[in-house]
Amino acid sequence: MYYSDDIIEEVRMKNDIVDVISGYVRLQKKGNSYFGLCPFHNEKSPSFSVSRQKQMYYCFGCGAGGNVFTFLMEYENFSFQEAVKALADRAGVALPEEEYTGEARRRADLKAALLEVNKLAAKYYYTQLRQPQGSAGLKYLRDRQLSDDMLRAFGLGYSNKYSDDLYQYLKGKGYKDDILAKAGLISYDERQGVYDKFWNRVMFPIMDVNSRVIGFGGRVMGDAKPKYLNSPETAIFDKSRNLYGLNRARRSKKPYFLLCEGYMDVISLHQAGFDNAVASLGTALTEGHASLIGRYVHEVYLTYDSDDAGTRAALRALPILRDTGITAKIIRMEPYKDPDEFIKNLGADAFEDRIAKARNGFLYSLEVLRKDYDMDSPEGKTDFMKEAARRLAQFSEEIERNNYIEAVAKEYRAGYEELKKLVVNMAVQAGMARPAKRPKSGQNSSRGREDGGRMSQRILLTWLIEDEGIFNQISKYITPEDFSEGIFRTVARLLYEQYERGGVNPAQIMNHFTDEEEHREVASLFHTKIRELSTAQEREKALKETVIRVKNYSIEQAGKDWDVADIEGMQKLMKAKSDLQNLHKLHISVN
Ligand code: CTP
Ligand code: MN
Repeated sequence: MYYSDDIIEEVRMKNDIVDVISGYVRLQKKGNSYFGLCPFHNEKSPSFSVSRQKQMYYCFGCGAGGNVFTFLMEYENFSFQEAVKALADRAGVALPEEEYTGEARRRADLKAALLEVNKLAAKYYYTQLRQPQGSAGLKYLRDRQLSDDMLRAFGLGYSNKYSDDLYQYLKGKGYKDDILAKAGLISYDERQGVYDKFWNRVMFPIMDVNSRVIGFGGRVMGDAKPKYLNSPETAIFDKSRNLYGLNRARRSKKPYFLLCEGYMDVISLHQAGFDNAVASLGTALTEGHASLIGRYVHEVYLTYDSDDAGTRAALRALPILRDTGITAKIIRMEPYKDPDEFIKNLGADAFEDRIAKARNGFLYSLEVLRKDYDMDSPEGKTDFMKEAARRLAQFSEEIERNNYIEAVAKEYRAGYEELKKLVVNMAVQAGMARPAKRPKSGQNSSRGREDGGRMSQRILLTWLIEDEGIFNQISKYITPEDFSEGIFRTVARLLYEQYERGGVNPAQIMNHFTDEEEHREVASLFHTKIRELSTAQEREKALKETVIRVKNYSIEQAGKDWDVADIEGMQKLMKAKSDLQNLHKLHISVN
């Protein structure tokens, strides 16, 4: 960390989490907490909670959680340092000048370093394109009819024919091989040593929503293979959670996005005035993409390539968008391959016309499906209707489902009531059980395998911050060492320290960690769902059982590691066991 703990805590305290998050999510007060629709996954009823008292947020649906810094890290894709800066600005806290520079700072924040080095690389490529050595690149892009405005807007550049000039340049700026490799800008092999990943290609910087360069795509200027070379996934480049062009499209006034496949499609569309075009860059659309889109618009027009692969990709994208609550329409590009070629040949007005004639995504998918069935034979048509019904059953909202049933019945000349019955049958057969969706990897996925011991530790940690009267009653019996090594124990230790100084502050505990995944994990420790218990007696009993379970587990674990020769260890174990006996007699009172 390169800001002091004190200044970070000051920034945090001056930015009330409810106020900050209210700027992004509509929140409603319910009891002690505020609830809203989670911005990190798609949902129809609110499971995203923000607590003014804890100064933390937590989603009971997807497990996203943390303090006010984490929120900006997740929502704005900020690094920890950037989140601190943004919130310091917001609250008018003057941050000290950066205390360390160079390597120390780089170590402190890998993400910030990767962003920094990517920005330098993008500037370098940009400059090269406009130098004599970049003339081939510039000619290539001009031949593809890109205007100077667009070259600038998308920051296009050129990587030279030399195979290590970027490497030399960045090394000259003091960057170590390690960070350049982590940025995916260099490669290494024994024969050649270190060399640039990209050379002799026109370069497309890939930016996140905040226009920060997170990776690159490089295109050959002829027919060589591979046509495009892309940055690998890095600490800042997650292909499944970024869309090319989103930094510009998010500012569009249009209420929908045009979703296409390639770099060139996006740029051509923007150039033709369609400033709402984004691309998933040849990778299949993911839930991460869909939930990102859902933050800005509720409607998407798919303008994928008109070949088989493009059609298949569009059909696969449909259910993903639908599950995120996004309406999808399909625009066909025939007789051209993709939006770029379409616009070059027919112009913007013709494209506008195709937008107006876009097909409803679901009905389009049935049209494609229909080709696989012999619709003239009764069996063929029945099988087709069954498959259609199976797909109709996946609309979870009744009104929407019925509207579609009506449209399909009309289009394929089937009776509405019969089709509806078929849909219900299909739904019953399928059990209607859809697995819970997880937008990001998190603790929930491993929670299933988590043993009862750790679960009890979670419950106890949550309990300790919810009811401040408990600490003094249990701290004689349970110490931070009773918690599992790693995050559990660190959090317990910090919490105990706070209690001993007088005053719990869970959000401050989180400042201790700088990684989003750690924040998530810590937030979950403080938000374990504790069974609703109506009487104080029931709660006391449950708490006592939890304390005993935590102790028991801790003794078990210690027993596993115990070495026969370790007399002291054995004495400790004996003592712990007798404590455990006493615990059964313990009376804890709760609020
Ligand atoms: N792509 C890739 N690697 C390849 C081919 C494609 O990463 N070897 C990705 C690129 O992001 C590309 C997108 O998939 O923009 C769509 O591929 P394609 O339709 O083949 O390319 P175009 O975008 O049409 O590229 P161009 O017009 O420059 O030929
Ligand atoms: Mn193309």
